[in-house]
Amino acid sequence: MHDAPEIAGQLERRRSAVAAEWGLTDEVVLIGSGDLISIPGRADLTYPFRAHSEYVYLTDRNRPGGVLAFDPGEGWVDFVAPVTERDRLWSGEPAGGLDGTTTSALGSWLAARRSRPLAVLGSPVPGQSAEGELTDRLRLALSQVRRPKDALELHRMRIAALATRAAFAAVMPMLAEGVSEREAQIELEAAAFRHGGEAMAYDTIVGSGPNSAVLHFAPSSRRFHTGDLVLIDAGAEYRGYASDITRTYPVGGALTPIQGELHSLVRAAERAAIDACRPGIEWREVHLTAARVIADGLVEAGFLRGGIDTLIESGAVWLFFPHGIGHLVGLGVRDAGGELAGREGRPAPFPNLRIDLPLETGMVVTVEPGIYFVPALLEDPDRRRRHRDRVDWDRVDAHLGFGGIRIEDNLHITADGHESLTADVPVLAGESASHRAKTRQETRT
Ligand code: GLY
Ligand code: MN
Ligand code: MN
Repeated sequence: MHDAPEIAGQLERRRSAVAAEWGLTDEVVLIGSGDLISIPGRADLTYPFRAHSEYVYLTDRNRPGGVLAFDPGEGWVDFVAPVTERDRLWSGEPAGGLDGTTTSALGSWLAARRSRPLAVLGSPVPGQSAEGELTDRLRLALSQVRRPKDALELHRMRIAALATRAAFAAVMPMLAEGVSEREAQIELEAAAFRHGGEAMAYDTIVGSGPNSAVLHFAPSSRRFHTGDLVLIDAGAEYRGYASDITRTYPVGGALTPIQGELHSLVRAAERAAIDACRPGIEWREVHLTAARVIADGLVEAGFLRGGIDTLIESGAVWLFFPHGIGHLVGLGVRDAGGELAGREGRPAPFPNLRIDLPLETGMVVTVEPGIYFVPALLEDPDRRRRHRDRVDWDRVDAHLGFGGIRIEDNLHITADGHESLTADVPVLAGESASHRAKTRQETRT
């Protein structure tokens, strides 16, 4: 691991880049960190605090009650909530101390600028109402600056990925008859924390057998049986930066022939989508690349009928691949996605595609194709009618309990293509990273 790049220098660079992108003259901007949120009915208890990502990006601080203020004529002022006696009694001093101007001075700072247009980014700042259009424009510009990850962000993401790799290494030996989804989750998360993870970046997904067809399945007491698929989607978080990895493994060591065929197909779709990732390519093209491989493979496997273009245009392929190919990951598991300036309000080109923009050097995206047999979609009479000629419904009915397969990696887009941050998590037991370059042809013969 490289040495951690210096934080202060990065913050200065980020703030200058954002100010330049905004190009303001008279407007003022507030960026709120947010406040603690009470858990209903739980008296003094609050949800774990996560400051708004826009605030964290510009302050590297995860503390409630803060406001970062910007006046184009005078620069940035960091208002922080003072540490109270109550804080010291219940939580102790903030780690690393607390530099900034006390929030009690925010009122007079604003009063001196009362007549000027105001934008509020981050979380709402109590008592301040912003100009909606200005706020929207500045948010798009801030997202634009946030998307390419800087050296400090990548450093943290690599630590999150290492912790997640250790978590998958710990869970793989547990994929045996009689172990429960919940037991697997516990060992996975313990290893993530032992290896540097500070939190899980999202609720860990462990779905076995038919549960693997539920996209975000919460681990249950269900026990693994030999022949089950187990879909594990998990990511550690470090200093707010996330990793987001999915693997689908067989219980008992070997995939059945149909599991093997569809696992190779998802892998081939992932490979093709990853190969397409480079600066300038539209994300919808990356999605389409994976969808074409999946459509073709599902025809070959006897589930779909017809040409690839028709299967995509008619939506038949989304019956089995019902989500987008991925999303930006970084500061949190959903990083600065949003819309691109000039593309506001444009409808998503495919169902559930989370982002619609061209890739740029420095972005980190997940690539996560999947094939699932979701009874809620496949037993729907309307869909059956609509796709009656394009789907072999008898074959589908025979596989309704199959579950699902997803494979997910995190790609850093570089000037000449991409670098995977997560390729060394084995795709199947015993497979080293070098196996991941295999083509579908090679893996299926
Ligand atoms: N872990 C949720 C996702 O893959 O997006
Ligand atoms: Mn995931
Ligand atoms: Mn993901």
